[in-house]
Amino acid sequence: MTELIHDHHAGTATAWWRDAVIYQVYVRSFADGNGDGVGDLLGIRGKLDYLAELGVDALWLTPFYTSPMADFGYDVADYRDVDPIFGTLADARGLLDDAHAHGLRVIVDVVPNHTSDRHTWFRQALAAEPGSPERERYIFREGAGENGELPPNDWESIFGGPAWTRLPDGQWYLHLFAPEQPDLNWENPEVHAEFASILKFWLDLGVDGFRIDVAHGMVKAAGLPDVGHPDQVKMIGSEVVPFFDQDGVHEIHRAWRRLLDSYPGERIGVAEAWAPTPERLAGYVRPDELHQAFNFHFLTTPWDAERFRAVIEESVLTAGLVGAPTTWVLSNHDVKRHVTRYGGGELGLRRARAAALLMLALPGSVYIYQGEELGLPEVLDLPEEFLRDPQRLRNPEDGRDGCRVPIPWAVSGPDFGFGFPGSQDSWLPMPGSWGELSVEAQLDDPDSTLGLYRTALAVRREREELGDGSLTWLKSPEGTLAFGRGAFVCTVNLTGAPVDLPAPGRVLLASDPPAFDGETVRLAPDSTVWWERDDD
Ligand code: BGC
Repeated sequence: MTELIHDHHAGTATAWWRDAVIYQVYVRSFADGNGDGVGDLLGIRGKLDYLAELGVDALWLTPFYTSPMADFGYDVADYRDVDPIFGTLADARGLLDDAHAHGLRVIVDVVPNHTSDRHTWFRQALAAEPGSPERERYIFREGAGENGELPPNDWESIFGGPAWTRLPDGQWYLHLFAPEQPDLNWENPEVHAEFASILKFWLDLGVDGFRIDVAHGMVKAAGLPDVGHPDQVKMIGSEVVPFFDQDGVHEIHRAWRRLLDSYPGERIGVAEAWAPTPERLAGYVRPDELHQAFNFHFLTTPWDAERFRAVIEESVLTAGLVGAPTTWVLSNHDVKRHVTRYGGGELGLRRARAAALLMLALPGSVYIYQGEELGLPEVLDLPEEFLRDPQRLRNPEDGRDGCRVPIPWAVSGPDFGFGFPGSQDSWLPMPGSWGELSVEAQLDDPDSTLGLYRTALAVRREREELGDGSLTWLKSPEGTLAFGRGAFVCTVNLTGAPVDLPAPGRVLLASDPPAFDGETVRLAPDSTVWWERDDD
């Protein structure tokens, strides 16, 4: 099948990942193939034409492994099987083959920081004595305080509350996330061997790489020292904490890189790492480590020209220092959708369209989260009884259900084509107005957000200057950005007012069309324009 994989730019047979556009499929919410109200592998297989025609190079599938779903699949009970709610191993094989036949590579999630509490290993650990080899696969400790009644240290769970839970026999176990997600002990060689075997299992099945969940988390500081600070979640990604971004984690990634390189076809590793600085993040993509890391510094940048310029410059520079491509991402299944982050409504959508063209013009690889190509906003008014994201424990305002609402495929019908007539209701209800945002409503409209993404991806494929490479900043008025990449120019107006500048050339594509007055062009508020330079 691999010969059907086409590289982004003709002639570059290698390093496909350096400029790949990778589409994140949140499996539970993409398409329901069996009518039970939950998205599944069969559903994805039915949408491969759509994805290939959208023009992406690869898919990243969120976890579909056997799981009690305490964290919607990020609590894995069996790493080598498919949860019945998502299908079977045969469906996974079929999806890989079909995706490859469509020219799409497939990256799957691997969750190595923790397992589910229903994983055989954890069940065995619970049944075994303190100090037993079974408990050595996880992080069990005696408690502090006179009778061990206090947690062993002051670490807080990312989802709220202490990161430790006590067992009836008095020992505590560590879980950086929910209590149903016990942290593995990466000091134990058995854990390394098990994950090498899991990776091989999926590589043998034909996956093109892995998105590594909490790639900065497996190794904890020796002695598990206190953080010494309450409200630790606010520090994540801004400071080094003893449970994240420890130097020792890089040994694991080096070993995995060797494993990936032992397979043909440039299989990749992508780090989900929240590192305090772009320099620390670059550590994950050194030549002998992973191929890519998500650029959350870009994702969290507010709508401001100076801030964007700074983060773009720093990202390109620091990744460049280790020879890695940058990545760009605006949304995923853990954050508020960017239409809403950028102000919501018409304003948010205008900015989101502009941000998409900015992102797709930058050097490196791009991640698109399902539904952003439709301009979907965050769903903020989900009825209370549907909210089940464990992160809501920490902060009800910070729940992740609103970015995980299923995709509307059709203008009308129950659940707008997420399932099929007669299907059960979708697991999260879809807003009544989403028919207008559906794939069907936008597909043939070049001015729609879907039309914009499709054209942008086609232009990106055609033009040699786009994708991997570098950029040159051009002089531009305050509140705007302008950069050139050979004969290609991108201008972004991040102000809420029109801005005039000398027209850089011929318009290739615009998130909002500019107006011309002779040699001068008036950029629309919150808009991006792609140009072909006159003088080249
Ligand atoms: C995933 C989350 C998940 C967490 C724990 C991540 O960062 O993206 O969805 O809750 O890891 O596995």
